[in-house]
Amino acid sequence: MIYENLLVEITTEKIAIVTLNRPEKLNALNDATFDELDHCFSGLQVNDEVKCVIITGSGEKAFVAGADILELNRQNKQSGSVFSSKGQGVFNKIEQLGKPVIAAINGFALGGGCELALSCHIRYASDNAKFGQPEINLGIIPGYGGTQRLARLINVGRALELILSGRMIDAEEALKIGLVNKVFEKSELMPKTMELASGIASKSSGILGYALSATLATNSLDLQSGLDLESELFGIACGTNDFQEGTSAFLEKRKPVFRE
Ligand code: COA
Repeated sequence: MIYENLLVEITTEKIAIVTLNRPEKLNALNDATFDELDHCFSGLQVNDEVKCVIITGSGEKAFVAGADILELNRQNKQSGSVFSSKGQGVFNKIEQLGKPVIAAINGFALGGGCELALSCHIRYASDNAKFGQPEINLGIIPGYGGTQRLARLINVGRALELILSGRMIDAEEALKIGLVNKVFEKSELMPKTMELASGIASKSSGILGYALSATLATNSLDLQSGLDLESELFGIACGTNDFQEGTSAFLEKRKPVFRE
């Protein structure tokens, strides 16, 4: 598939950089972009040359300014829920990739853009980034997971304040409420994100996958079921060559070389 709205680069360190590339529309998510994201992440999932993924936006202003409002405007009662489910499906695929996904938020992350960032596992932002769920201003509610993931990440009260007011917040406030992990000067965002991704990509991909599965299960499991899953995956991890390598390397006072 030839992408019109995405740029994809895979580095020698096995980091995939996926750039939303509709800068003239502030990288707004149209239907074609969702198809491309779906295809792209299916490929990244099975690509052994990829251990970690970064998602960012092209241009100076935006990460993603939301769903494409031109396409949104055409929806009706029937098509609207399909429209929402399709976006949710793609964002679920990103969250459930089995490989770490980092959002490098380089500007506006509004509506679907904020929801895209929420479906990533780690969020780094530049100091000019702006966040919000402004759907209420358009007479609609968030439809790509915002009502669920935002509430789980920053708590229900804070999520409701943003969703009900449609208020935009800056990077400093996003950091304060736990919506992003770190904020950097604009020029530092990609170097710092790459530094994090390189460190992650040096770990065992199998063990990264178990860590993601166990931790993301907090979204769907009660505590005891989550603890049971943790023990199961811990046991599976203990049976791997990378576990032998990691623990032996520590005892032999050398750096581990993970192979999986
Ligand atoms: N869908 C479709 N087009 C969008 C868009 C979106 N979500 N966000 C921005 N654009 C387009 C604008 O229509 C404009 O296109 P044009 O040049 O053909 O008119 C272009 O991107 C630049 O946006 P503009 O509004 O001129 O930039 P700005 O700096 O004045 O404002 C924003 C930036 C982000 C505040 C403003 O674009 C905005 O409010 N966007 C919508 C955000 C939103 O409600 N998202 C949730 C959607 S559910």
